[in-house]
Amino acid sequence: MNFENIEEIAQYLVADGKGFLAADESTPTIGKRFDAINTESTETSRRDYRELLFRAKGMKDNISGVILFDETLRQSAADDTPLKEVISSTGALPGIKVDKGVTPINDTEEVLTGGLEGLEDRCLEYETLGAKFTKWRAVIKIGSGLPSNECIKGNMQVLSDYAKIVQEHNMVPIVEPEVLMDGNHSAETCYDVTSRCLDSLFKNLEAKGVNIKGTILKPNMVLAGQSSISQLSHDEVADLTMKCLKENVPAELPGIAFLSGGQSDLDATANLDALNKKGGNPWKLTFSYGRALQQAALKAWMGDKVNTQSAQDAFSHRAEMNKLAALGQWDMQLEG
Ligand code: 13P
Repeated sequence: MNFENIEEIAQYLVADGKGFLAADESTPTIGKRFDAINTESTETSRRDYRELLFRAKGMKDNISGVILFDETLRQSAADDTPLKEVISSTGALPGIKVDKGVTPINDTEEVLTGGLEGLEDRCLEYETLGAKFTKWRAVIKIGSGLPSNECIKGNMQVLSDYAKIVQEHNMVPIVEPEVLMDGNHSAETCYDVTSRCLDSLFKNLEAKGVNIKGTILKPNMVLAGQSSISQLSHDEVADLTMKCLKENVPAELPGIAFLSGGQSDLDATANLDALNKKGGNPWKLTFSYGRALQQAALKAWMGDKVNTQSAQDAFSHRAEMNKLAALGQWDMQLEG
């Protein structure tokens, strides 16, 4: 696939009814996912699992981009085909997580994402390796007196610096300010915090001269905290999320690809569908799910080759359901 510029790449990534597979779990994180299915995490088992996903029939027509961890971008399938070629052959573009994880801010429980050091060099290499887009995740915690303005400002400045550098290397930056679901806060609190983050993010992106038409936003949906007793309906999540986005996100941004963040598979799909059924928004609204696309597949796989087909079927089903949600055409009855 040939693209004239990053704006074309961004348009391709958010084409109607397509979304991202987030398969960029760091080695420690994929290790935790494998622990849950009693599977040892080795370079080969991680390759086998990810190859299984990339070769599933549900990749085609549903997935426009796959976010990879450094190891996977360099790995080859069991038959020696580079995994990035397995991905491209389905019509999806390979992308790469480029942040280096989080460190505490002044010994508090708040964190700042790092990785700007050496980012230029890494981008040069990733561009050569064929990555067409990148991802950087900032983590914002809600708690008593949290998040601090310092945490929001610091993270949004770094996200903007990252986006500028990535665009200079002809790749589309996905900017991911994730407000965590942990806690018992209300949806209104999540709305306020998400608004503060998005407002600061777009001010910073503009100040740094980032091309918004060549950028994709990966936000959380506006939800009550995971342990809150007053959870919203899918329709209420869609209303509050849409209000928050309309107040803070410029219309020229091509697309918004939500993270799943710990929602159940069905909630992540139903909420995206409710958002798209609302309509009247200037951006494409789609998915960039990790857990909500992979949980069922991991459980079906259990680290055993004999389960490859059922794991692929589980992943393909979620990919298809989320495609329908990205079009506002999903229905609970289609879940089977
Ligand atoms: P989840 O959908 O599991 O939240 O993962 C998305 C992601 O890429 C987090 O950075």
